[in-house]
Order: sequence, then C-alpha cells, then structure tokens
Amino acid sequence: MSWRPAAVAVALALLGSAVALPAGAQAKKAAAGASAASVARATGAAASSASGNALYAERFRNVCAACHGPDGRSDMVGTPVLAGQHSLYTITQLFLFREGRRSNQAMVALAKPMTDADLRGFSDFIGTLPPVAPPLPAAPPDAVRMSKGQALAQQHKCVFCHGAALDGGQGVPRIGGQKEDYVRATLHGFKSGERPGYTRAMPEALSQVPTEDLDLLAYYVANFTGK
Ligand code: HEC
Ligand code: HEC
Repeated sequence: MSWRPAAVAVALALLGSAVALPAGAQAKKAAAGASAASVARATGAAASSASGNALYAERFRNVCAACHGPDGRSDMVGTPVLAGQHSLYTITQLFLFREGRRSNQAMVALAKPMTDADLRGFSDFIGTLPPVAPPLPAAPPDAVRMSKGQALAQQHKCVFCHGAALDGGQGVPRIGGQKEDYVRATLHGFKSGERPGYTRAMPEALSQVPTEDLDLLAYYVANFTGK
C-alpha cells in the first residue's frame, strides 16, 4: 500500500499556503510579550497547547456545537460531521470560508473575524474529536447500490487518496460515514465548480465521473462502515 503516502505528499505539496498559517500564529504569540513567552517556556509547549485546546473546546461548545453537535456529529440537515476529521484538512476549509471562497452563509460569517490563531485553534481542537459512528439505519443499506458504489470508488480512485477505509489523513478528509445529503451536495458542488477545492484534487478526480453517478457514490460513502 505505497499509494497513500504518495497521494498525501502530493496533496501536501499543494497545501503550500496553509503552512504559512501556523507560522503567522506563532509570530503573533511571540509578539504577545516576554512574560507570556517565559510562562510558555516554564510550563512547556504541551501545557500551552493544552490550554489552547481548552479555550477552543469552550468556544466550540458555545458556538459550533449548536449546529455540529457537542461531539462533532449532529443530525442537522446539510451539516457535516466534524468528529474524526483531520486538523490539516479542517484548517484549509476554515481558511476558504474566511476568504469567502467556499460559500455558506453561516460558516463565512463565523470564519470572517477569525485570526490565524483561531483557524489553528479550532482545527486542532476538531482534530482531537474521535470519530462517531452514524446512528444505525432503520434498514440495512441496499446491497446492490453498495456494491455498485464500491466499484465506482475503485474505478475513480477515490480510495487512492481517501484510503481503503475512507478515513483520509492530513489534508485529505475522512469521508466514510459522512452524512449522505452533505456528501451528495458536496460532490455536485465540486463537479459544477460551485465548491472550490483547496487543491485541484477533487475537480480533477470528478472530471471523469458522470454526474448521474455522483448520488450513488454519495450513498456508498455515507453508508460505508467497513474497512
Ligand atoms: C448555523 C450552523 C453552523 C454553525 C453555528 C457552525 N457551522 Fe460549521 N458548517 C455548517 C454547515 C451547514 C456546513 C456545510 C457548509 C457547506 O455545505 O459547504 C459547515 C461546514 C463546516 C466545516 C467544513 C467541514 C467539511 O467537512 O468540509 C468546518 C470545518 C466547520 N463547519 C467548522 C465550524 C466551526 C469551527 C464552527 C464554530 C466556530 C462552526 N462550524 C459553526 C453549519 C454551522
Ligand atoms: C487525488 C486525490 C483525491 C482523489 C482521487 C479523490 N479525492 Fe476526494 N478529496 C481530496 C482532497 C485533497 C479533498 C479536500 C478538498 C479540497 O481540496 O478542498 C477531498 C474532498 C472530498 C470530499 C469533501 C469532504 C468534506 O468533508 O467536505 C468528498 C465527499 C470527497 N473528496 C469524495 C471523493 C470521492 C467520492 C472520490 C472518487 C470519485 C474522491 N473524493 C477522489 C482528494 C482526493
């Protein structure tokens, strides 16, 4: 399975500008004054990132949980699961919302006033939320649709980047168990160009996929529970 590190490396190479974000955040922290710096030195990096996490855990509870759920999975329509999502992917998307490049009224309004440190803090906190399995469906997923969806995911190399377990890594999102309505809208959005990628990966991956196969892919991805 040598494909995945290579794919992740390609995705990361394209993530050049995200790398500037943590540096900016560090610079701001450094400018916060000598006393803060000496406290940080005295308590160590682990302690300072733990208190950063506590701050963003609280802000997440107060602001984000209303829609995304306190554990990162809500049943609100159209609202993606954040539980189990990777911090590097998350920061790229918060960045796109902040710049108004990825459109969603609520998310753009929330992200607009965020500093680089906020993007980093929220993303790091989200990165600590363990995956939460979807609620058991009333009926088992349709076996024929699942096997057709699996064939499409192989044929179009979704697993090449998102992994055989569809759990992604680094800048590539976890998609297995993501909500079907959200995945469907997102695939159509990438295909039509309405959702810009942080990288060219998705528009290119979907350029060969007929529009009529997107719903089946969304069904498969959302109902995927296996390895
Ligand atoms: C009013 C409801 C609402 C609130 C509050 C909210 N979100 Fe969202 N969020 C959404 C919706 C809806 C989307 C999906 C947007 C789309 O369709 O592109 C989203 C998308 C996201 C995504 C992209 C996920 C992905 O898989 O690409 C991230 C990250 C995110 N939100 C983080 C946050 C954070 C952090 C907060 C708190 C500061 C927050 N959200 C508060 C509704 C909300
Ligand atoms: C070349 C690598 C690559 C391939 C192939 C690929 N993806 Fe992606 N995918 C990504 C990256 C990177 C992102 C993050 C989007 C961005 O760049 O902003 C993503 C994002 C997504 C998202 C959005 C997740 C979210 O939380 O919003 C979905 C859904 C998705 N991919 C499904 C698929 C499906 C289905 C296929 C196969 C047809 C596929 N991907 C093929 C790399 C890839």
